[in-house]
Amino acid sequence: MKAVGLTNALTDFMDIEIAQPKPGTHDLLVKIKAISINPVDTKQREATKLSEEEVRILGWDAVGEVVEIGSDVTLFKTGQEVCFAGDVTRPGAYAEFTLIDERLVGAKPRSLSVEEAAAMPLTTITAWEALFDRLGIVEEDSGKSILIINGAGGVGSVATQLAANIGLEVIATASRPETIEWTKNHGANHVINHRENLTKQLKNLGYEKGVDFILCLHNTNAHWDDMQEAICPQGKICSIVELAEPVKMSLLKDKSATFSYEFMFTRSKYDTDDKVKQHEILTKAAHMLDGGMLQTTLNKVLSPINAATIEEAHQIISSGKMIGKLVVKGFE
Ligand SMILES: NC(=O)c1ccc[n+]([C@@H]2O[C@H](COP(=O)([O-])OP(=O)(O)OC[C@H]3O[C@@H](n4cnc5c(N)ncnc54)[C@H](OP(=O)(O)O)[C@@H]3O)[C@@H](O)[C@H]2O)c1
Repeated sequence: MKAVGLTNALTDFMDIEIAQPKPGTHDLLVKIKAISINPVDTKQREATKLSEEEVRILGWDAVGEVVEIGSDVTLFKTGQEVCFAGDVTRPGAYAEFTLIDERLVGAKPRSLSVEEAAAMPLTTITAWEALFDRLGIVEEDSGKSILIINGAGGVGSVATQLAANIGLEVIATASRPETIEWTKNHGANHVINHRENLTKQLKNLGYEKGVDFILCLHNTNAHWDDMQEAICPQGKICSIVELAEPVKMSLLKDKSATFSYEFMFTRSKYDTDDKVKQHEILTKAAHMLDGGMLQTTLNKVLSPINAATIEEAHQIISSGKMIGKLVVKGFE
């Protein structure tokens, strides 16, 4: 089968032919139709160290058709269109066929095109797990406030919609006219600038005591001091971005504030007992997408899937200026 791989200790993408994989007991073999490129792809590319004989296939956000199933599969049948983010410890979806554990998969939202659907799985799972599993937000929190740092990126564009849907007051951050407009269009009540002091801007908006929740979707170190200031006493902060350096937590202690991490590959990487939650999240999100309660965040499509377009997509993501999602569609 065709694939786009990192090979021979090089960091360049190559168009290659490799053997089609065989499904394990819980696996679906999926014929890939479109893939979304994420910062995790560029981070994994940078971290990849290969010997001469090794090949690595990246890509963990895709839509395709189930063409074969493992012996214990119960959730899907061949012929179904599915979407998934997957498991960063396994080969990814820059390939004509990929394997995915059925418990990490959802049915493709019926009303969306293949590329509109491919934009959604990884960012939706991340935003959903961060808001509801890590920050523990429930319907009764309606009316409370949340600061979303990086409103226009892939995760922020979904998190803003989900938070607004359950009635939170959403203050999102953006710094350019086009990202400010995008963020407002995805449901933010207020947009403030992440290149200026956040606490000061929140005070100017009337959040004198700070906000109830903060979701950090960009450089955690850069926003750390401001987040400690901006969180209200007994508030909750979640970040999805690794800390590059140690930080002081004394103000969080003083405020009895909670800090948590969200990593959407935790459930698959550690094979947690509740791994099927990602199937449930994608199923609920598909209903919301089909019902108009959630909009796709697709913003750019490249085609076909080959080394040149994957390289182009990585350059765009690495620019740090992406708005919403970038999808690469179809093998030639
Ligand atoms: N833990 C996980 O499971 C997980 C999952 C997904 C993503 N991530 C990580 O989360 C981060 C965001 O990824 P993403 O795909 O959602 O978005 P993204 O595409 O990386 O975000 C691009 C946006 O970042 C904004 N930005 C630039 N400088 C900023 C700053 N100083 N503060 C806040 N925002 C700034 C820009 O907005 P302006 O142009 O308006 O400045 C730009 O539109 C990445 O580091 C990614 O690796 C983690």
